[in-house]
Amino acid sequence: MADDQSTFVAVEQAGPVVTIRFNRPDKKNALTFAMYRAATAALQQAESDPTVRIIVLRGAGDSFTSGNDLQDFLTRSAGHDGSAPPATPDSPVMQYLKALSSASKIVVAGIQGAAVGIGTTMLLHCDLIVAAKSARLQLPFVNLALVPEAASSLLLPRLIGYHRAAELLLLGDAIDGATAHRIGLVNRLVEDSELDAAVAQIVAALAAKPPQALLATKRLMKTDGASTATRMAEESVVFAQQLQSPELKEAIQAFFEKRKPNFGG
Ligand code: COA
Repeated sequence: MADDQSTFVAVEQAGPVVTIRFNRPDKKNALTFAMYRAATAALQQAESDPTVRIIVLRGAGDSFTSGNDLQDFLTRSAGHDGSAPPATPDSPVMQYLKALSSASKIVVAGIQGAAVGIGTTMLLHCDLIVAAKSARLQLPFVNLALVPEAASSLLLPRLIGYHRAAELLLLGDAIDGATAHRIGLVNRLVEDSELDAAVAQIVAALAAKPPQALLATKRLMKTDGASTATRMAEESVVFAQQLQSPELKEAIQAFFEKRKPNFGG
């Protein structure tokens, strides 16, 4: 949980490009409150800097991110430690999603390994995504007694079709990078050794475009911000209820005890 460890997010700027890298590789870049806060600050800084046109999201080590820190779901579910639970509008998670979903700059993600939970739902708010073959995308909310977030209940069916979205959200199984590419969840699929170069190539192409036209094109495509925000808020009400459920505690304890959960079925 380490709120003092904002070094778990590394931010670099090179000309018009800001790279935000989740950097907690020993925990597969699981996202703590401190990490959401650091990433949100970086997004806000990029947003307010007129010289920045492109934001790149990456993960250190062998993963993009294994999603929300599961220990945080347990300890912060009812705000027991005095902080906002992870699903209220002022929580660091929701602030991060708000900053990302409303970003006017072009957001590129390069993913490898685990892209779990918010590691997949945040991709729905990116513009271009390059996946390495090792990528494993998973939306295990239901397995954890949770519900979709980040407006994924709206955006995912829209992007890949209802039945494919239902499979990912109701069964919660992982898909590999090739499957994610086939169903249109990512733009490009590359060898792991080529991920850095593939992201750099897209970023260089974007950076060479006329800046005003580039950002105006994104603005014209992103016409449905209001319904995205509404769905995010609707989801968070149910998410917050589920965070306090006995079935969530069982699911997360089972994960840390490396056993199958028992939901009494
Ligand atoms: N929160 C907290 N800790 C996490 C984590 C998470 N989301 N994901 C991984 N970790 C920790 C593990 O507990 C483990 O810690 P340890 O070394 O102290 O035992 C370490 O990161 C490595 O994870 P491990 O499970 O051993 O790696 P793996 O390669 O076998 O599996 C995942 C990787 C991502 C598939 C697996 O860790 C996983 O399913 N994580 C949970 C993902 C999740 O449910 N996220 C929330 C979605 S809403």
